[in-house]
Amino acid sequence: MNIAPQKGLPWITSKMRRLFGSERAFNSETPPLSRQYIAGFAGFWVMADEAHIISLAVRDTLYRRGIGELLLIATIDLAAQLKAYIVTLEVRASNTAAISLYRKYSFTQVGLRRGYYIENKEDAILMSTEDITSASFQAHLQQLKESHSQKWEIPLYQITR
Ligand SMILES: CC(C)(COP(=O)(O)OP(=O)(O)OC[C@H]1O[C@@H](n2cnc3c(N)ncnc32)[C@H](O)[C@@H]1OP(=O)(O)O)[C@@H](O)C(=O)NCCC(=O)NCCS
Repeated sequence: MNIAPQKGLPWITSKMRRLFGSERAFNSETPPLSRQYIAGFAGFWVMADEAHIISLAVRDTLYRRGIGELLLIATIDLAAQLKAYIVTLEVRASNTAAISLYRKYSFTQVGLRRGYYIENKEDAILMSTEDITSASFQAHLQQLKESHSQKWEIPLYQITR
């Protein structure tokens, strides 16, 4: 399936709607608190031309269903809209799942912060993209979007039941 180059919130909400197979959860009315269900979230800040991911997490019961990837795609698209040229982050050296996700999206290690995580003194790997507006990065991103879209065509609720 070809993904049109849609960006921002309309794109991610339509993808999430398709993943969950639910129209109601994403309409303009805010559901009652008891019905809200957070599958995952991502956050980043932008300083000058750099977007720095400060959090990206998926509910553990929903791992390996493409949600982390979807959040990362949306983050990169939103970062580009906000005129960032690179996306950076820190990740625990032991976090092989996250490192694999970031490598898939062409992040490479650009530094090491020794003892960065205070509770266990674990090192943080500093990772960065190349220029996210470059033709090569955008071509790779488009391929990944198309592959993700094809892989996660099945509504999520059908997988989890
Ligand atoms: C990292 C995390 C966000 C991945 O979310 P997810 O929804 O399970 O990931 P996806 O299903 O979208 O997988 C996308 C890619 O991530 C990588 N990946 C995810 N889980 C993995 C695992 N257990 N082992 C190896 N690679 C993994 C793979 O490259 C995968 O691509 P593939 O399906 O082609 O193999 C999730 O494990 C998580 O929330 N972890 C705890 C919080 C965290 O560590 N956040 C990162 C902080 S920097």
